[in-house]
Amino acid sequence: MKKRIAVLPGDGIGTEVTAEAVKVLEAIALRYNHYFEFNYGLIGAAAIDATGNPFPSETQKLCEDSDAVLMGAIGDPKYDHDPSAKIRPEQGLLALRKELGLYANIRPVRSYNALLSKVPLKPEIVKGVDFTVFRELTGGIYFGKKGREDDGNSAYDLCTYNKEEVRRITKLAFEEALKRHKKVTLVDKANVLETSRLWRETVKEIAEDYSQVALDFMYVDNAAMQLILNPRQFDVILTENMFGDILTDEASVIGGSLGLMPSASIGSKHAMYEPIHGSYPQAKGKGIANPIGSILSAAMMLDMSFGMSVESSLVNRAVQEVIEMGYLTPELAGKHSCTTSEVGEKISSFVLEEMHEMI
Ligand code: IPM
Ligand code: MG
Repeated sequence: MKKRIAVLPGDGIGTEVTAEAVKVLEAIALRYNHYFEFNYGLIGAAAIDATGNPFPSETQKLCEDSDAVLMGAIGDPKYDHDPSAKIRPEQGLLALRKELGLYANIRPVRSYNALLSKVPLKPEIVKGVDFTVFRELTGGIYFGKKGREDDGNSAYDLCTYNKEEVRRITKLAFEEALKRHKKVTLVDKANVLETSRLWRETVKEIAEDYSQVALDFMYVDNAAMQLILNPRQFDVILTENMFGDILTDEASVIGGSLGLMPSASIGSKHAMYEPIHGSYPQAKGKGIANPIGSILSAAMMLDMSFGMSVESSLVNRAVQEVIEMGYLTPELAGKHSCTTSEVGEKISSFVLEEMHEMI
């Protein structure tokens, strides 16, 4: 099969981790006789530096003309420390999500037995955790009207949702639940927010078409607590944009490292795959960034955009194997501390030969 992949490495460690995901995709292409064409584009601070725009129109066109997008990371401290900056790298990512209509951000959370000792939570709490978060990605407070009053002393960020925005992601979440343990938890703040009450109303309507799926509701403050008290209770979590942003960083602790967490951002025409971590500028160029989140994002791409489920499983197995053997970047390393590219190398070697001799 021939596929065109737009690669947007972005900022900080984005370039390093994305290079490893490309390496693994190339190994898959070689092994299964596919042809992946990688075309590179600019986004974020890298794009501002080169063009003045965090999401240049060439990048948008490249994404629209591709079968899938692989993104690295966005963000640069030189903008974080300037609250008055009008142009920010993050605007590039938000524009990309909005312009490509990527309304559903899917973030799987799982625990790895080999890493239980690295997790700050007790092993009996995190062992066996396996749930997926469906985070709405193109609405809510991120995209509402925002600004300052004329005197500059007060500011606002409006949170709005309409029923259609809720419906389309809710359907995806219920479809996923059907393939899993048939439970959806809607996380909201319906005791306070009108948008949350709209979500509840709409989600209940959709739930009527999915009688096999159990639906429950949880306030976001309680969900933040339940995630670390009893995360095994979750199967599919469905939530709005900002709650999903916050809860998935929290949930990443369960896996052992933010660096392990992949994600898929899906729309009706396009899809983008990116690790959930940020650009980690302090680590840039040091070879210590964990490429597994990016590699697992590439595995999601193989399955969800290209229908290559066998290939995707092989990448997942390779990652599992490398984690069990302890070939890990410093934040997780036990036996063997590896660089970013060594981890990518191990995973792609496994993909090429299922390297039994490595064991
Ligand atoms: C994420 C990130 C982004 C978000 C930032 C970089 C704008 O935190 O993908 O979770 O808030 O959505
Ligand atoms: Mg985030």
